[in-house]
Amino acid sequence: MLGRTRKVAVLAAAVTLALAGCAKEDTGGTTASGVPLIKTGSLTTCTHLPYAPFQSKDAAGKVVGFDVALIDLVATKLGVTQAIVDTPFEGIKSGTDLESGKCDIAAAGMTITDERKKVLDFSDPYFDATQALAVVTGKEVKTLEQLAGKRLGVQGGTTGEDYIKTQVAEKKLDVEVVSYKDLAALQQALSTNQVEAAVNDLPVWNEYIKANPGKVAVAAGFDTGEQYGFAVKKGNAALLKAVNEALAAAKSDGTYEKLYATWIGDKPTV
Ligand code: ARG
Repeated sequence: MLGRTRKVAVLAAAVTLALAGCAKEDTGGTTASGVPLIKTGSLTTCTHLPYAPFQSKDAAGKVVGFDVALIDLVATKLGVTQAIVDTPFEGIKSGTDLESGKCDIAAAGMTITDERKKVLDFSDPYFDATQALAVVTGKEVKTLEQLAGKRLGVQGGTTGEDYIKTQVAEKKLDVEVVSYKDLAALQQALSTNQVEAAVNDLPVWNEYIKANPGKVAVAAGFDTGEQYGFAVKKGNAALLKAVNEALAAAKSDGTYEKLYATWIGDKPTV
């Protein structure tokens, strides 16, 4: 015989199943301007937190940043609100999340690369970035060569990781490259001396230094000439058009510059 708790559980499961069967699933819809969305009334954005100043949680737990503000402009244009999904960078850059319908758009401080262009459709570039080497303040490191015999931290799946791995291989450097799953883990490893130095996009280090004055310093920059783009599922021309139009409007009416000053600080280069 079934115990009372067990019976209740079985009943609950049956009710859930029945409800799931009846409930009309939100298969999304199309906005008045013909943009398909995975959820009615929302522009669903995939990102990988934290990546300040592009996307991170504020004190109240709300996801904010430069990318968030720009995508809000797209959402407003479409007459919907932005809903943010935090998910590992790998699924974003590989196109898997967009293909599987986890989100409509990816906004993750993501660099446009030829490899990623094969699996994603990128917007016009909205930010210029380079890579930078950060060390704990006071460390006398200026070059990768000086890291011989030491550990160098990078963020897994990023252009910074690719750049460093290529440098280490090409220059046959005796450097142990350690990949961390996200920016927070990388910064933690650096500040607790688990690595001698760490590489990531320059604006991200600038932001970290602003938030933690005196702890970390940028030791060197690598001019990789990167540009960030927002990405949509391959072939989603309607959404891509809306994104590019929103970006162009923001650039011409001063909104882009204002948001840049708010989130990044220095003057925009694009
Ligand atoms: N710009 C770098 C890249 O595209 C790093 C992006 C990491 N972004 C993030 N939200 N975790 O590889």
